[in-house]
Amino acid sequence: MTSQVRGAQLARLLGQWHALPGRRRSPDYAALAGTVRGLLADGRLPLGVRLPAERELAEALRISRTTVTAAYRQLRESGHLASRRGAGSWTMLPGTHRVASTGLWTPLDDRDMIDLGVAALAAPPELVPAARAAAEDLPRYLGGAGYHPTGINELREAVAAKYTARGLPTSPDQIMVTSGTQHALDLVLRLALAPGGSVLVESPTYPNALAALAARRARITTHGLATDAAGWDADMLLGSLRQGRPKLAYLIPEFQNPTGHLMPAELRERMVGVAHAAGTDLVIDESFVDLPLDGTELPPPVATFDRHSRVISIGGMSKPYWGGLRIGWVRASAPQVQRLAAARVGVDMASPVLDQLVAVHLLADASAIVNARRTQLAAQRDALTDALARRLPDWRVTVPRGGVTLWVELDGPISSALARAADEVGVRLAPGPRFGLDGTLERFLRLPFTLPAADLVEAVGRLAAVRYDLDRAGRPRWQEPAVIA
Ligand SMILES: Cc1ncc(COP(=O)(O)O)c(C=O)c1O
Repeated sequence: MTSQVRGAQLARLLGQWHALPGRRRSPDYAALAGTVRGLLADGRLPLGVRLPAERELAEALRISRTTVTAAYRQLRESGHLASRRGAGSWTMLPGTHRVASTGLWTPLDDRDMIDLGVAALAAPPELVPAARAAAEDLPRYLGGAGYHPTGINELREAVAAKYTARGLPTSPDQIMVTSGTQHALDLVLRLALAPGGSVLVESPTYPNALAALAARRARITTHGLATDAAGWDADMLLGSLRQGRPKLAYLIPEFQNPTGHLMPAELRERMVGVAHAAGTDLVIDESFVDLPLDGTELPPPVATFDRHSRVISIGGMSKPYWGGLRIGWVRASAPQVQRLAAARVGVDMASPVLDQLVAVHLLADASAIVNARRTQLAAQRDALTDALARRLPDWRVTVPRGGVTLWVELDGPISSALARAADEVGVRLAPGPRFGLDGTLERFLRLPFTLPAADLVEAVGRLAAVRYDLDRAGRPRWQEPAVIA
């Protein structure tokens, strides 16, 4: 069945379409069509949905029907709309554009594209030797069926030892190995959240967590993070827990994605106490915990303050090691791990044994690998912040003390427009609204520093050029990448 977007809904999505930067002399219909294209490119307006009838949209936007007619015509001509007389108009994309209709980022294969949409490093050199050693280990497992719903013991032990070394005594039966942190989150939500349950998340937050929550039809409320180094406002966060009493809160206290904030120990402790009193389970995503930079000291894990099995921690290999491994985990109480394993067999039975063995070998070499990652990330972060300071001095950056991303405050609400323009010059961006609800956060942009420094500097040069173009009055189309620095 084709879904339909109503006039009022589309008007809300379109927001300030008539006042977007870079359109000063372009006619209303072109601005309207351009904004619809942008919504499609951002995945905020799905593909294959029926747009409102021209009259309905004209009424919702309080503009003339002729303007809507002309905008729809332009969208048809550019391949963004298919119409059939009497049946309506559906959104689509021209063949050359690939945008996931789910709203998730799909990495591109285009080699000339500098992909700043994905915040993850290439594999470390230790990966191939670890894979070889894992293959040598495999015969030890081949006599069994190979299904280990909670994970192979040696990996559970290695992960438990990591927590214990961080000051959080953990036994292997408190660990369940998953196929990535995203999988861990999905499983925890299945266990801890009935469909339609209430959830508190940070804003901005990790977009695929929002996707997992949407799949549970969660009722989401947000805690807005400050842009400066402070991050969480303790009173507001604790107040939201006390008053809203959400069923669950999803937080990223270590080098939060996308802001890079690190939650102080005192707030961790108070948050766990308040969550317990409010009946809220805390799902703590520790994806970036291995990546403090500049010798930053880590506060104790949030679960250290937990006396009532309120805290479920999730983490994985993707950020310090490699995303392609697809190894993550959950740390919870042993009974919770058993319940998770029971839920899991309805999804994927178990994680691959070979990949788990690779993870065991990488974790055995953890300090060498992770130290090299930190050195690399610090250098790339500095190259990116230097390039931004030189080429885009009006953008404000709070330098994070860890993680892999900068959360940049732009010089206007231009994030989506900038992402569209950047795409045309071979830079793929994740614009601010990706990290929030309701199309807000247009003044922000996430820039990962996971690519080599030279690529980051090149990307900033291209962004500076298109940023300048957005301001130039009368520039007819962003599609012409005339100025490439
Ligand atoms: C906060 C956060 N959680 C989860 C994930 C997904 O990690 P994985 O690749 O382990 O599924 C990411 C990846 O970007 C992330 O940033």
